[in-house]
Amino acid sequence: MKALLEALQPGEKDWDLAQAIDPARLPAHIAIIMDGNGRWAGRRFLPRVAGHKAGIGPVRTAVETCARMGVKALTLYAFSVENWKRPRAEVETLWRLLRYYLKQELPDLQKNDIRLQAIGRLDALPEQVRRELDAAVDATSSNRGLVVNLAINYSGRAEIVDAVNSILEMARLDGSIQTLKIDEDLIATCLYTASCPDPDLLIRTSGEMRISNFLLWQIAYAELYVTGTLWPDFTRTDLLQAVLEYQKRDRRYGGLSGAGVDVEAKPAEESLIASLRPS
Ligand code: IPE
Ligand code: IPE
Ligand code: MG
Repeated sequence: MKALLEALQPGEKDWDLAQAIDPARLPAHIAIIMDGNGRWAGRRFLPRVAGHKAGIGPVRTAVETCARMGVKALTLYAFSVENWKRPRAEVETLWRLLRYYLKQELPDLQKNDIRLQAIGRLDALPEQVRRELDAAVDATSSNRGLVVNLAINYSGRAEIVDAVNSILEMARLDGSIQTLKIDEDLIATCLYTASCPDPDLLIRTSGEMRISNFLLWQIAYAELYVTGTLWPDFTRTDLLQAVLEYQKRDRRYGGLSGAGVDVEAKPAEESLIASLRPS
């Protein structure tokens, strides 16, 4: 949080928001469905690709803000397996923008100790994109600050299928296939995001109330935050507001709120239970 306050001026709106955030209860992992680029462009009578280009600035801002806040991981949904259904020119522009982003941002990522990872079915990317992505991931692999996962050609279902197939492959190789038992921990350790804690906060821009095949396994207990803001308009203020809202939530994980909830039945409960005769 200190690094964020250093970048702000007292009296600024973001200064007040940053002061209100409790640094001890930051989300360790924030995931963002960056949606609304096409609508942003449409409202300006621009082609959809202009919206994608305008979406690069907010990526930079989100990465910098998370790094300064001290968030451990940020996962950005950049391209879904289903996005191949879009016109060829739009898809081609997205690859070009990704290459542009990597080239532009690599020096800053290095300077700020940020580690870039790519998650998704990366084999299907155009060869040059794959090569440049791998190079950026390699170049930042020993950085120890914020981890940025770029979800590219990503599908939550495909990720679970890939995890199960890798478990089967390992069991075949070490001869344990007959006795193999799959449990939640084993699946979690074979997901693309195995090195990160599950997201605490999932943000979706553009107001859509759906998950669109993003991190299906990992968001089991994430707090959801949907804003009507379109991704190209998403600012540091929006991100700080999302974190503040997250800190107001009561995360119960199926239990009850408050520490030390008494699990033993009280006399009034005992008599009520006794009065209920299901059969
Ligand atoms: C999100 O913006 C970016 C990608 C999916 C690549 P969209 O392109 O989905 O924008 P809308 O939802 O059509 O406005
Ligand atoms: C989700 O947005 C994918 C990304 C943000 C990369 P979409 O725009 O593809 O999702 P739908 O089609 O509205 O569900
Ligand atoms: Mg969309």
